[in-house]
Amino acid sequence: MPRHFLRDDDLTPVEQREILDLADEFKHRRTDSTPLAGPKSVAVIFEKTSTRTRLSFETGIVQLGGHPVVVDARTMQLGREETIEDTARVLSRYVDVVVWRTFAQARIDAMSSASDIPVVNALTNEFHPCQVLADLQTVRERHGTLAGLTLTYLGDGANNMAHSLLIGGATAGMHIRIAAPEGFEPEQWVLEAAHKRAVETGGSSRVLSTPREAVAGADVVATDSWTSMGQENDGKDRVGPFRPFRLDSALLEATGKSDTTVLHCLPAHRGWEITDEVLDGPASAVFDEAENRLHTQKALLSWLVQRR
Ligand code: CP
Ligand code: NVA
Repeated sequence: MPRHFLRDDDLTPVEQREILDLADEFKHRRTDSTPLAGPKSVAVIFEKTSTRTRLSFETGIVQLGGHPVVVDARTMQLGREETIEDTARVLSRYVDVVVWRTFAQARIDAMSSASDIPVVNALTNEFHPCQVLADLQTVRERHGTLAGLTLTYLGDGANNMAHSLLIGGATAGMHIRIAAPEGFEPEQWVLEAAHKRAVETGGSSRVLSTPREAVAGADVVATDSWTSMGQENDGKDRVGPFRPFRLDSALLEATGKSDTTVLHCLPAHRGWEITDEVLDGPASAVFDEAENRLHTQKALLSWLVQRR
């Protein structure tokens, strides 16, 4: 059975650390290993738009000696009437790994269920686990550790980033606080999965509705778009209730700490969920975070193909 990376708890705490360590090796050029030489091919398929994920996977696969096959899903038969499972069976005959950005998590679960090769989640409505590996590498670079740190996420607590930070952060032993407007809290089953991990690692998770209370003492403050891809016409007010959760200088100061790190997976909607002052300020690590997508995904792919 191949290993897949569909959600953050598909890696144990030890495996997550192994991948972060390997990502550091790649970043600091202590290794130039090419586990995809041969070359092994990786299909990278998009059902939603992307800048970072697409570019970092494509360049990373080439740097690992592999052959990226980047496809817009609208040009595939998958978009017409071929089933996800039949697509998985066919891809398994051509390539060595599938990386997929899609909508419902059930779709990537279906892909992995019929796949003979590793399947990697490049973002679903529910999770963005590749992004959180990069976030963890970035936090560890700035703070030297992960376990015991407090990360507060402000905004849509029910989106992929909030969910992945909850489970991925708990896997790393962090204390994750989600501050979200009423009606935008994380899904209960995600909170349960995060709690299960936190019990193992000594981390914790909490949901709060007051942004100032949520950021007090935070080592890391993260935010994300109030409207995720696919939610543009969901009929919800995604502005009014979110205004108090905008990450501005006053909220950053309310951490009471001088070394807080600011994360945003990007793309940012400047002036909405985060102000220019914070995004471009000294606490911001967002461009390191974007860079680290490359190193963590190289580490993840190396790890997955070497485990087969
Ligand atoms: N952060 C992130 O996944 O960016 P893209 O949507 O540009 O890939
Ligand atoms: N929550 C955002 C993340 C973008 C990388 C979205 O799904 O659109």
